[in-house]
Amino acid sequence: MMPVGAIPCGCPFIKFFCRIVLMGAIPDTNIFMNTTIYEPGKQRDLWECKPPPPISHPNKRRYSVKFIDLFAGIGGVRIALEKEGFKCVFSSEINKHCRMVYEKNFKDVPYGDMTKINPVNIPEFEILTAGFPCQPFSISGHKKGFDDTRGTLFFDVARIIDKKEPKLVILENVKYLIHHDKGRTLKIIIKTLEKLGYYVSYQLLNANNFGLPQNRERIFIVASKIKYFQFDRLKKIPTPKIKDFLDEKGDFEILEPKEYTLIDNPKMQSSGLIFVGYRNKKGWKKGVRPNTSHLSRVHHQPNRIYSINGTHPTIPSQETSGRFFIYDDENQYVRKLTLNECYKIMGFENYKQYHLAAESYKQIGNSVAIPIVQAIAKEVKNQSLI
Ligand SMILES: C[S@@+](CC[C@H](N)C(=O)[O-])C[C@H]1O[C@@H](n2cnc3c(N)ncnc32)[C@H](O)[C@@H]1O
Repeated sequence: MMPVGAIPCGCPFIKFFCRIVLMGAIPDTNIFMNTTIYEPGKQRDLWECKPPPPISHPNKRRYSVKFIDLFAGIGGVRIALEKEGFKCVFSSEINKHCRMVYEKNFKDVPYGDMTKINPVNIPEFEILTAGFPCQPFSISGHKKGFDDTRGTLFFDVARIIDKKEPKLVILENVKYLIHHDKGRTLKIIIKTLEKLGYYVSYQLLNANNFGLPQNRERIFIVASKIKYFQFDRLKKIPTPKIKDFLDEKGDFEILEPKEYTLIDNPKMQSSGLIFVGYRNKKGWKKGVRPNTSHLSRVHHQPNRIYSINGTHPTIPSQETSGRFFIYDDENQYVRKLTLNECYKIMGFENYKQYHLAAESYKQIGNSVAIPIVQAIAKEVKNQSLI
């Protein structure tokens, strides 16, 4: 025997109408108007007819925003954006060592040469990120939009932006971009983005304002289809000391006291660096100009030793031997910063490192201070730019 009110038909639609007629009830749910009042335990059968629209929680919004990681390096930008819940759908990196370590960490092999990418083959995305090398623009015209940038890697970034029209573009570059070609390079980049329909803002940001003990300034450009990104709303974090980022134990390369000279009364500079001395390396004396023997041949800067009670200078990409020396006043020794510590002062945690130290130093120096990019990504959400 069938119970009263049971409907002898399998089709959920017919079931639904029969139930209204049989029970004489007007349901709370109007599936045709697409508005649903859901009461737990009630009306569940109506959902079989048509799923309700997703309930939106403005404050608990889940971000499935997609981004692409161009000039990906070892994926510093990707880590930052993924920490904010964004999803990487495409990456490009030409260097084979970077590609290998990228794959090791993200299980993705980046596409190779950026200049060969046909935008049609890139999946849909909302955010484009790129830390491209800065090159002078050869064409003198100013009114040709992104054609002004032809022959440069930025041209290829602009080409993808033009075709894919992402909501947001985040670009990172060296501080020198501001002065490059008497400021013309930056000007053309901004003009090009504006011509492509973006509100463009940029700012020099220092890693030491974002919780890292490194004096590292980089220019960040944020271009949005909606409105200007406000850099002044970025959450700054007090500058920590190098000593907060040191490994407790390891195979430390400690210098003999005869290998360095400590200065009297070291003082903290406004940048947070505390220069305490320099290395007396004999080898550098050969072929070096008088009074410059304490200068590193790589950067032509003093081969300095810094106190662990301050910050560290920028980790450069050219220093492939990792000659970064710190003075530990508690243990009273000078030692080399370990590779792992270099990763840490860029914001990398538990990163699967590359097997060749020289390449790793290069990769870290070329990478990005992760907390800066993460702070930008967080603000992109707060400022409703996606
Ligand atoms: C400044 S680094 C960017 C690093 C990256 N943001 C990170 O977190 O590691 C620039 C990268 O662009 C890559 N690159 C240069 N020319 C390229 C090209 N034509 N196609 C793809 N990648 C390229 C370099 O190999 C380098 O790793």
